[in-house]
Amino acid sequence: MTKPIAAFAGLGACSPERILTNADFERMLDTSDTWIRERTGIRERHIAAPDQTTALMARDASLQAMAEAGIGPEAIDTIIVATATPDRLLPSVACDLQALLGARNATAFDITAACSGWVYGLVVGEAMIAAGKGERVLVLGAEKLSAITDYTDRSTAVLFGDGAGAALLSPANGDRGILSSYLKTDGTLAELLWRPGGGTVHPPSDEMIKDHSYYIKMAGREVFKNAVRSMADAATKALERAGLTGADVDLLVPHQANIRIIEATAEHAHIPMERVYVNVDRYGNTSSASIPIALDEARKCGRLEPGMIVLLVTFGAGFTWGSLVLRW
Ligand code: ACO
Repeated sequence: MTKPIAAFAGLGACSPERILTNADFERMLDTSDTWIRERTGIRERHIAAPDQTTALMARDASLQAMAEAGIGPEAIDTIIVATATPDRLLPSVACDLQALLGARNATAFDITAACSGWVYGLVVGEAMIAAGKGERVLVLGAEKLSAITDYTDRSTAVLFGDGAGAALLSPANGDRGILSSYLKTDGTLAELLWRPGGGTVHPPSDEMIKDHSYYIKMAGREVFKNAVRSMADAATKALERAGLTGADVDLLVPHQANIRIIEATAEHAHIPMERVYVNVDRYGNTSSASIPIALDEARKCGRLEPGMIVLLVTFGAGFTWGSLVLRW
């Protein structure tokens, strides 16, 4: 069995207090609780307060991970924030987070891989530890999707929620930690899930406000098909690299986008739903924050014990997808 190079020294999550239920959407849009639950599995999602920024949610999750690891801000050498919803385009959320934490010895940068961002960030953090470039690496998935969601578009509005999750990675000391990973990208299908406006191709304009191109646009059915295919691919690839099969997995923690995608992923990997952690019903899709929020909740409710084999599987805009096997 592979010897891990990096391990989780701490974990934390932040979910805003305000909750938007399916009943709230019934009052806002031509939709129903039944349609949303049957097509997505979502019942409610957490929505950030107007002044609750992506960086502030990231700070709250980070403080928990640091407390568990027993380290102060000056011990952190690297901060990696995966986000599709930066508070502003320049500078990064990671720079704001470094200032908020007082982590003055940390190098800080964002990565953009949409919903797959946290898994991408863990692989980057692990590689930095392997290369001797870091020893206390904070990896965040942090999102304020409500700021880029079009609440007049019923096909996307009901899907997304806000939140953040953090892991503190440090060199492994024994058998526990990251055993294998797999990352994949297909940039040819970018326009199936994107934010067309607001960048340098279509800078902010009156037109953009009118045509809503500032918001997330998604070809739902096509994204669904690609998500099922890619997450099935990812689920088996990281396991193969670790010399394991679905039968060895104690807990699958997939990206929480849609219960039907989660069920298809579990079925492909031959993992029964009793060994899958699902919280999409209470959080919706929080993009890069979804897996760390689910992982943190899973261990708090006693679903994780030391030595367990945990499989993370993700998919997002890009398209990006990937997986990671951990010995917890
Ligand atoms: N309420 C009621 N009806 C709706 C709603 C709604 N909220 N949304 C869409 N519909 C309607 C459509 O208008 C359509 O009506 P029509 O047949 O009269 O034209 C009908 O429902 C079917 O629409 P579809 O889009 O084909 O519905 P589908 O079964 O595919 O479900 C959904 C839509 C839930 C969005 C699904 O496609 C999906 O989950 N896609 C994947 C999303 C995802 O996984 N994203 C992951 C990455 S996200 C990221 O990276 C940020």
